[in-house]
Amino acid sequence: MAEKKYNVAVAGATGAVGNQMISCLEERKFPIKSIKLLASSRSVGHKIDYRGDSIDVEELKESSFKGMDIALFSAGGGVSEKFAPFAAKDGCVVIDNSSTWRMDPDVPLVVPEVNPHAVAQYTKKGIIANPNCSTIQMVVPLYPLHKKYGIKRIVVSTYQAVSGTGKKAIDELDSQTRAILNFKNYENKVYPHTIAFNCLPQIDLFLENGYTKEEMKMVYETRKIFEDDTIRVTATSVRVPVFYGHSESINIETKENISAKEVKSLLEKTPGVKVVDDPKNNVYPLAIDAAGQDLTLVGRIRDDESITNGINMWVVADNIRKGAATNAVQIAEILAKEYL
Ligand code: A2P
Repeated sequence: MAEKKYNVAVAGATGAVGNQMISCLEERKFPIKSIKLLASSRSVGHKIDYRGDSIDVEELKESSFKGMDIALFSAGGGVSEKFAPFAAKDGCVVIDNSSTWRMDPDVPLVVPEVNPHAVAQYTKKGIIANPNCSTIQMVVPLYPLHKKYGIKRIVVSTYQAVSGTGKKAIDELDSQTRAILNFKNYENKVYPHTIAFNCLPQIDLFLENGYTKEEMKMVYETRKIFEDDTIRVTATSVRVPVFYGHSESINIETKENISAKEVKSLLEKTPGVKVVDDPKNNVYPLAIDAAGQDLTLVGRIRDDESITNGINMWVVADNIRKGAATNAVQIAEILAKEYL
């Protein structure tokens, strides 16, 4: 039987994640009948290559999704809020990278290595949410540990690359770094402070409880993906002057006896994970090694000697790929194969 093919739209096609979504569809040979590339009116006239063809970027409109089967959205929360329901109404399933729909009880929040079964819930609203980049790379290695040892509490600190903020932030780190090295003046446009040669303990807006939205996303999204509201999570999110690749220091406390040795051997068998852990030879996960590939790298795996059942680890992934575009395309693959 001939392979079924799909009409696919990418909303935010000119952005950092949207562009990567197009590359992922191509790399993973997603069965595409036609592709529609959507952005704001500013991008009309631009062309993007897809499988050797030069495709015109079209303005995103309410009617853009007629006849489309799947739409990958990464054009910001406001665009998703406004346009995803129009796509769904036209029978086009949305896989949305913004935070708009993630905590909606009628919208599944999916990491294919953890809860692929949740994709089935897409029928409720016609929308599937892609989790936050920092949450995705945390739950991929923690899920097998949660299943085997029962995680009671997670303490995580993130070191997040500027590409997570989009193209403008990539340009700001680049131009500020050049300006500072050349003793020139510069402005802070994207972040409230200088990002070059600095670390900013703020990602997204502050909430009443003193945490940022990004930090609380990690709390709520982890519980939803693990389908376990008892798990305690506390996060500190930091923006660092790195272009691609988020790093995370993760500490877990478990119900059952756990050891670094067992964790290492379990993670060596976990799909989507690569253990990079040879401290004697200075080998551990690095952002520059994680960038441009799809595995979540885990290293510095060691017993937390301050508690009975605790583990520390260092986890790094490409935030634009596994943290966003690849995860969305993996969801599209499940949707196409099992449901459409
Ligand atoms: P455009 O390039 O036309 O502004 P990034 O996350 O890298 O900043 O990219 C954001 C993406 O979202 C871009 O593709 C951008 O298109 C798109 N976008 C932003 N605002 C809108 C809008 N109002 N309608 C459609 N696309 C939008």
